[in-house]
Amino acid sequence: MLEKVKLHNFKSHNNTELNFDNSSLHALVGQNSSGKTSVLQALHYLSQLANSSVDIFQHERAPQFITTIGQTNMSVTASGFWKNPDRNDWKASYDWRQTVNDGWSARLSWEADKKPDSMEGEASSFMYAPEPIQQSLRNAVHLKLVATNLAKAAYSDAITPRVEFDGSGLAPTLDYLRDEAPDKFQSLQEMLKRIVPGVREVGVRRAKVMVNRQRLIEVDGKSISYEESQEIAGQEVVLDMNTGKRIPAHSISEGTMLALGLLTVLINPTQPNLVLLDDVEQGLHPKAQRELIAVFKEIIQQNNNLQIIFSTHSPYIVDELTPSQVHVLSNNNSGVTRCKRLDEHPDVEWAKQTLTTG
Ligand SMILES: Nc1ncnc2c1ncn2[C@@H]1O[C@H](COP(=O)(O)OP(=O)(O)OP(=O)(O)O)[C@@H](O)[C@H]1O
Ligand SMILES: [Mg+2]
Repeated sequence: MLEKVKLHNFKSHNNTELNFDNSSLHALVGQNSSGKTSVLQALHYLSQLANSSVDIFQHERAPQFITTIGQTNMSVTASGFWKNPDRNDWKASYDWRQTVNDGWSARLSWEADKKPDSMEGEASSFMYAPEPIQQSLRNAVHLKLVATNLAKAAYSDAITPRVEFDGSGLAPTLDYLRDEAPDKFQSLQEMLKRIVPGVREVGVRRAKVMVNRQRLIEVDGKSISYEESQEIAGQEVVLDMNTGKRIPAHSISEGTMLALGLLTVLINPTQPNLVLLDDVEQGLHPKAQRELIAVFKEIIQQNNNLQIIFSTHSPYIVDELTPSQVHVLSNNNSGVTRCKRLDEHPDVEWAKQTLTTG
């Protein structure tokens, strides 16, 4: 469970501190370009570092692009706890600084049970960090779902399929859920019906999918690799709606697919414990937005270790939250992000009598 995040020289964040309340549901609000997605990104990198030894700061995510222009160092620090059954407090951070020869050098540091430790140089994972850090961060997902990707027929050869960042892989994930956890599939269906009342039943059927496969051939004793397109049997989502049965996903409304995608990620048997959602209300009617937040609250109640952090522009969504669940971001004239929790507003007590949170 995350309690605090500090961003230093991360894009528009010079010194941003977010303190999360104990509700496990937190909104980031503010004008365009105020730095909401950047907070989700910073946390996503942290979780990727807890996941693998792949150097995540290569290529387009090179540290010079995420460090505030003109600065030569940046850092992201998070702290929180893991309860199993006793509370284990932890702190983890990554920082990058420019070296004399224009290269960048990383440092990961962590602390658990009050024992500090760190790795210097090209450190690229929290592999050697203690369990509570890995447990808290490793099962995170960061989503910016796109309805057309959710609707695409897909194929997965993973033991446990999952929905990707952009929404691809929905059909195999649902198929897995229906077979392996029928009770969860049922409750997903019920929740979707609450958000989009026209839905009757969620289904998955076989469909053709084009996949690119790497092939190797031997020519004169040498291995040559080439890519081959192949049509294989995958799956696509079909929905029974109040307007007709077995309607293929590509003909289903955008908001319905987005809600289905979100619920599939949250209700999956390999459920994540940190879910980072960008622009959570996209495609949803105000009533559906309210129902979505009610559903989020129920899912959180059933899962002690689940925390959801999302960005939104919707007052209807914010209305369903208390001021301590809302983090307001704003750029001042110099473009630097400032961030405060809504319950820190000097007029909050007066406002609570008169206004809704949104
Ligand atoms: N390296 C950098 N140095 C300084 N500022 C940067 C850097 N990279 C990005 N930015 C700033 O951060 C902004 C991106 O912020 P972000 O995507 O987090 O905004 P947002 O609050 O999610 O906005 P929206 O509501 O439009 O999605 C950019 O518009 C740019 O002004
Ligand atoms: Mg954004």
